[in-house]
Amino acid sequence: MKAASILDYRELARRRLPRFLFDYIDGGSYAEVTLGRNVADLEAVALRQRVLRDISDIDLSTTLFGQRLAMPMALGPVGLAGLNARRGEVQAARAAEAAGVPFTLSTVSACPLSEVAGAVATPPWFQLYMIRDRGFMIDLMQQAGAARCPVLVFTVDMPVPGTRYRDYRSGLAGAPGLGGSLRRLGQAATHPRWAWDVGLWGRPHHLGNVAPVLKGKTGLNDFFAWMRDNFDPAIRWDDLDFIRQHWKGPIVLKGVLDAEDAREAAARGVDGVIVSNHGGRQLDGVPSTARALPAIADAVGDRLTLMADGGIRSGLDVVRMLALGAKGVLLGRAWAWALAGAGEAGVAHVLRLLEAEMRVAMGLTGVTRVEQINEKILAGGE
Ligand SMILES: Cc1cc2nc3c(=O)[nH]c(=O)nc-3n(C[C@H](O)[C@H](O)[C@H](O)COP(=O)(O)O)c2cc1C
Repeated sequence: MKAASILDYRELARRRLPRFLFDYIDGGSYAEVTLGRNVADLEAVALRQRVLRDISDIDLSTTLFGQRLAMPMALGPVGLAGLNARRGEVQAARAAEAAGVPFTLSTVSACPLSEVAGAVATPPWFQLYMIRDRGFMIDLMQQAGAARCPVLVFTVDMPVPGTRYRDYRSGLAGAPGLGGSLRRLGQAATHPRWAWDVGLWGRPHHLGNVAPVLKGKTGLNDFFAWMRDNFDPAIRWDDLDFIRQHWKGPIVLKGVLDAEDAREAAARGVDGVIVSNHGGRQLDGVPSTARALPAIADAVGDRLTLMADGGIRSGLDVVRMLALGAKGVLLGRAWAWALAGAGEAGVAHVLRLLEAEMRVAMGLTGVTRVEQINEKILAGGE
């Protein structure tokens, strides 16, 4: 199959990956209502078609946190993405660098920060979770500082993990010990290309940044057990002071969905906020990000840099998020599916698709610069 869209890469990923991995990427929590809303609400945002405005010179570049970007987007943090293709985060980071957009490395990546940072000239953004062991957090921030990561993305919407039924059905969660491992092995056996590419050759890297605290344990069960036991549910606003103590660069709070929380974030002096519900993987039933974004933009859009993610499946969706008040977006599943479907070339292709689709959306709404995208390009926005 030749992929022409992001959803085509989803289909390629479905064919290529063992079921436990595809469902891990694709799924959301509980009934997946919020995941569905993210996509549907964004898609429902109607654009205002304009004509006769000389759109021969469209420029997608923008500046976020002092970094000049070719497009107003970054590859967002996706845990274990490195299992989608051999040394997957390295491949994705290379594609992002070539396209002129940042790559964000998750705390729980498969490849360690040193490996990813060593493979590209432009250091990635680094995403941090709140972990009980503060010494380990300090160590991660120091590693990110030493690697010259320009932005720290501090994710705050996972003080407790949302339950994802698909992970139980696939054997990724809730089947500890030999049972889960055997089920995953069975699924890998029916996907020989992945089993060869990643299962056999990619394995030494699959515990990434947390390998040192896993103390020699190497299984996925151990990995998820560590996440369950070590993410800190006591996380609170004052912890931002701790982060600020150990990180001198921009701090971007990821996982804000409420205007009051956004105001608090602005009052606490964070540099940016990412409006996100973790791609519908945490509290099912909360509003889509497209729905939540305008009120948050009204509340803090002029006080900090606002980004958003959730449900972005095309360049049109990127333009929609910007029209709703974001200055830039994060891609989640879009790049994870592409990586699974076709590795670095797949991620590069998805970024080209997004670029081309953004150009069309901007041109036909009559704008030629990212800064001109606002609510006026929405139908009813005249
Ligand atoms: C498989 C998967 C793993 C994720 N892991 C992380 C993570 O480690 N850290 C984080 O902050 N967000 C994580 N996210 C959330 C994404 O960064 C992003 O908020 C979300 O995927 C956006 O929604 P979309 O996938 O519909 O675009 C993950 C998302 C997925 C799909």
